[in-house]
Amino acid sequence: NRLSLNIDNVKPFVSADALQGLQAEVTRLHNLLESGQGLGNDYLGWLHLPSKIEAAEIQAVEAAAQSIRSQCDALISIGIGGSYLGARAAITFCNPLLRGAGGNGPDIYYAGHNLSGDYLADLLDVIRNKRVCLNVISKSGTTTEPAVAFRILKEALEQQVGVEEARRRIVATTDEKQGALKQLADAEGYQTFVIPDDIGGRYSVLTPVGLLPIAVAGIDIRKLLQGGQEAEHAATQSARLDENPAYLYAAVRHLLYKQDKTTEVMACFHPALQYVAEWWKQLTGESEGKEQRGLFPASVEYTTDLHSMGQWMQEGQRTIFETFLLVAQSNRDVSIPQFADDLDGLNYLAGKGLDYVNDKAYRGTAAAHLEGGVPNLSLTLQDRTPETLGQMFYFFERAVALSGYLLGVNPFDQPGVEFYKKNMFQLLNKPGTEKR
Ligand code: PA5
Repeated sequence: NRLSLNIDNVKPFVSADALQGLQAEVTRLHNLLESGQGLGNDYLGWLHLPSKIEAAEIQAVEAAAQSIRSQCDALISIGIGGSYLGARAAITFCNPLLRGAGGNGPDIYYAGHNLSGDYLADLLDVIRNKRVCLNVISKSGTTTEPAVAFRILKEALEQQVGVEEARRRIVATTDEKQGALKQLADAEGYQTFVIPDDIGGRYSVLTPVGLLPIAVAGIDIRKLLQGGQEAEHAATQSARLDENPAYLYAAVRHLLYKQDKTTEVMACFHPALQYVAEWWKQLTGESEGKEQRGLFPASVEYTTDLHSMGQWMQEGQRTIFETFLLVAQSNRDVSIPQFADDLDGLNYLAGKGLDYVNDKAYRGTAAAHLEGGVPNLSLTLQDRTPETLGQMFYFFERAVALSGYLLGVNPFDQPGVEFYKKNMFQLLNKPGTEKR
């Protein structure tokens, strides 16, 4: 196991008996999930995806990624929500932060996840003299944000390299049969990848939605899937809370929610985890926040946020619990030098790595927040490898599916997301939308 869950700092709030009391329900819900009898059962394609994904599909993604890597020095991944965050989380997690988004391959840029003119104008400036490829990703094929961004970027690319060459540089990831993007891709003759019908956006990181941009960034998607598969096997084998950490995590957060700890704050100590937290917020928020129920998922990045949100975490309203997402083994470390004059008084740390100091910051924070009345748990990732990342993605998917079932909601739909769209379309005078 490449992940380890520690719930010691939750024990003053959640007893072993309370956990044991939930076991029968967890087992029942596990069986519902596995037998496909539960809520949202037409969206369970992710459940055994890591072990079922076909070799031919992996090869096709790798070949497309290779072709993009050899043709282009920038890939723009165009998508929003579940069609965007998984890839960004993985790429940020694996690649060095200060050496351009793509490390040794093309730089990876993102579009279609906002409607800011400034953002797209800046992006158009940045890519002006680069060889650009586009991967437009939308399951419905009709989402406004990526559709608008794609229209603008497609035109720019066609003007830069001509219509024929642009066609060779565009890959569409969308539904197998329907949607405007599917029609457009067929009409233009773009290479396409399919988002399976039975997998919702936020559970799609291990489909071509995530796999293609991740592979373009030079990350080994076979290793990522291997990690996913390991977590899938572990979570399928046993529903017992002492054997299934994903379910233990779900059970603990459920019991805390029942005690009016209504906000879960994911706290990370590595900038590499910034978009993992964003991906997790979407997964949990969109899966659980319905029927006036559900934990509010928030995130902080320490230690910087200890100097802003740290005050609130220590002494604010006691409606929160904290989930620390940690990395046991960094890729690289930097040690603190010895100075003869010791004018800054830091010689007591000389020879120590930053990771050592960071670890003490975590331990000090966890103890302080517990003392301040904030239960906290930690999920430690063994390292920053694709295998560990694959395990983590699946761990959270499984845990959130069970959490939704524990709450009694369908964790695989998102009816609330439609409401703003109706208003926006009316304000934009989109044909076919009437005034309310
Ligand atoms: O998780 C989800 O289903 C959503 O976040 C979608 O991924 C998001 O709205 C984008 O939808 P689409 O891929 O259809 O453009």
